[in-house]
Amino acid sequence: MTIDLTTVDSLDALAIIARDCTACSLAEGRTQVVFGAGSPDADVLIVGEAPGQQEDEQGIPFVGRSGQLLVKLLGEIDLARDDVYITNVAKCRPPGNRDPRPDEIDACKGYLKRQIELIDPKVVITLGNFSTKLLLRTTTGITRMRGRAYEWWGRFLVPTFHPAAALRGGDKVTDDIRADLAIVRNIIDGNLEYIDGH
Ligand code: URA
Repeated sequence: MTIDLTTVDSLDALAIIARDCTACSLAEGRTQVVFGAGSPDADVLIVGEAPGQQEDEQGIPFVGRSGQLLVKLLGEIDLARDDVYITNVAKCRPPGNRDPRPDEIDACKGYLKRQIELIDPKVVITLGNFSTKLLLRTTTGITRMRGRAYEWWGRFLVPTFHPAAALRGGDKVTDDIRADLAIVRNIIDGNLEYIDGH
């Protein structure tokens, strides 16, 4: 039986359904589903790519090196990990940390859609190409998409680099993430000066 996720009326209920998900082959290699973590009433929802090894082991998104950098940069705009909700496009770890495949993203996207509806955040931050391309339905890469806020289904969407890119790419990439998070701070404070439609 296929469950209609659009009728699931709480995050907890959605997480229980996700726990046993076999909608794609990532189910075979995972330790556990990494559904998401944080405040169910968050103003800010953050969407990464897919769990890595540590996330797969602990069942919590962004607990590895990328996560530590993410939490540090969020702190610089006065957001703690518990103030936001963090999840990924793919809820299960791809083997060997390969990129999630289009069929896997497609099989998983109903969970993300319902998470966004239930949390109803003011702003969605997409980290990197996978979440940005999925949610903004674009083929344009993150380097060109970032640096502004988009109006998106009645809320704001701010794309930025994945923190893993900052770990590889150094200060310039980290500063670009800082600039994008400053836009998020402005949105939360009600001071957004401009918005690009999409
Ligand atoms: N990278 C991601 O995209 N998500 C995680 O949860 C961890 C690393």
